[in-house]
Amino acid sequence: MCGIVGYIGFRESQPILIEGLKKLEYRGYDSAGIAVHTERGLEVTKAVGRLVNLENRLTGEPLCGTIGIGHTRWATHGKPSDANSHPHTDNSLKFSVVHNGIIENYLELKEELMLAGHRFLSETDTEVISHLISVEYEGDIVKAVQKAVRKMRGAFALGVLTEHEPDRLVAVRYASPLIIGVGEGEKFIASDIPAILEYTRDIYILEDGEMAVLTREGVELLTVEGNPVAKDVFRVNWDLMTAEKGGYDHFMLKEIYEQPRAYRDTMRGRVSEDGRSVVLPELSITAEQLRAVSRVHIVACGTAMHAGMVGKTVIEQLARIPVEVDVASEYRYRSPIITKDTLVIVVSQSGETADTLAALREAKRCGARVLAITNVVGSSVAREADDVIITLAGPEIAVASTKAYSTMLIAFFLLGLYMAQTLGTQEEAEIARVLAAMDSLPEQVESILGQAETVKGIAESIAKSSSLFFIGRGIDYAVALEGSLKLKEISYIHSEAYAAGELKHGTLALIEDGVPVIALLTQEDLFEKTVSNIKEVKARGAEVLGLVNEGHEEASAKTVDRQFAIPRTLPLLTPALSVIPLQLLSYYASLALGHDVDKPRNLAKSVTVE
Ligand code: AGP
Repeated sequence: MCGIVGYIGFRESQPILIEGLKKLEYRGYDSAGIAVHTERGLEVTKAVGRLVNLENRLTGEPLCGTIGIGHTRWATHGKPSDANSHPHTDNSLKFSVVHNGIIENYLELKEELMLAGHRFLSETDTEVISHLISVEYEGDIVKAVQKAVRKMRGAFALGVLTEHEPDRLVAVRYASPLIIGVGEGEKFIASDIPAILEYTRDIYILEDGEMAVLTREGVELLTVEGNPVAKDVFRVNWDLMTAEKGGYDHFMLKEIYEQPRAYRDTMRGRVSEDGRSVVLPELSITAEQLRAVSRVHIVACGTAMHAGMVGKTVIEQLARIPVEVDVASEYRYRSPIITKDTLVIVVSQSGETADTLAALREAKRCGARVLAITNVVGSSVAREADDVIITLAGPEIAVASTKAYSTMLIAFFLLGLYMAQTLGTQEEAEIARVLAAMDSLPEQVESILGQAETVKGIAESIAKSSSLFFIGRGIDYAVALEGSLKLKEISYIHSEAYAAGELKHGTLALIEDGVPVIALLTQEDLFEKTVSNIKEVKARGAEVLGLVNEGHEEASAKTVDRQFAIPRTLPLLTPALSVIPLQLLSYYASLALGHDVDKPRNLAKSVTVE
């Protein structure tokens, strides 16, 4: 997704903008650009592709000046190209804008502007903003931005610069994240904290409908209507090192190996000292309100939705409340039955996914209580939900989610147990038994990670295939979906996940000699049934890798060609272990194929458009 950086201060802005944009690369982008107020006026340099292309372009002709804005673009309106890259300017070249989000009524605005003689150089919605501001400008950039914003519909975060006022930088937030960094004699804007952490830890988090006017000396916060806003500076206490690779070849591998720590952190302080109950002081939902919940909707996208599918089983089994899981982009449009006794759980690593946020708002509009599971404190989802469980995975940089997914599972285990103890649907001894098993998960993950070389060997043979299948039953099916998505997104190998019993209803036609099938067999009560489905694919020539529980290898050895065993845990908790070899499998397959593991094609870390 797009990234914004802005600077006003006493240093050269170009290196600060470029370094800041590099820190935002994890969001995914396809072009980049900067605008700097130089001694010649407002100058813009842009380049399609990676940031290095922009740097190369700037090498011969640097933009010198102490105020500037920069942007990494992830194409939404118009293909990735130099012309479509930000910053965008008006026809007089006096106003420059960087923008994250979408202006929904841009076509109508563009038509009006064209009738008034404006010429457009790009296909973007953003270019309309710079023209609108130029039209509204009467000597005060803040007022011009306010007037322009009033004409715009949609979601946006903006950074605005004008040649007329070289000592002011304007930022606006409307449903797209934006922060303001405060330094001595210098100020920053950014769409995410890592971009400016090298320079300051003091930030303001803008809310929707707020804007900031930055000068070298200070920051004025106000609403887009012009009313002053008072808020405290937020001190960031995590350091940039946590967001760096820490010796691993890729962020993804580092993040896979961080999972034992992430599990411990996510559980820390949330289990009573005697290990017999869950403590979630962050939840404000009362026991009475929880007892009134008659149904749960889990809404999320992609990997987070797969975590939600595990969450469904966890909540239904432990708390005995019916749960539906929805893809967030579908939720609003299927007229879901949301009542006051519906608990809507939104799950989002970034907390900024537009579809998930829209679903959250719809749920609230219908009067439901919303609980969020997210990895990002202060994210939109975290701020708008009634209750939040933060997964303490730490910043996840690789586009492919690993530790954020698995800590979502931990959050669901804790929540399911918490609901069960509140509702009295499980004996205290059973809750203690599950908690004890959870306590062992970090060590068990470590033991799986210790067999990474074995997985690497399997991945290298799988990487030669053009298509493969993941199958499983029950909770194994939810993990199969995640394993398949992971493989697709970073290795670009076609793969599908199927409920093992469903294959014979059509998809079996695709199974032929040598097609790899990864069969998850961790649910021993479903073992015999899954074995029958494995026999169906074996009969058609499939090469089957079984993912089994330790101690159960002998039983499956007769059916599968190869197997990988995971440590034994309670059936409900197996996803927190079985997903680990699948993450490693995708990582090594991608590596074997020579792909950019951390920045796969066509994907963004945080998808802030619907
Ligand atoms: C994860 O590997 C995927 N890249 C993607 O499916 C992701 O989970 C999805 O876009 C939702 O993101 P969120 O958790 O930040 O809401």
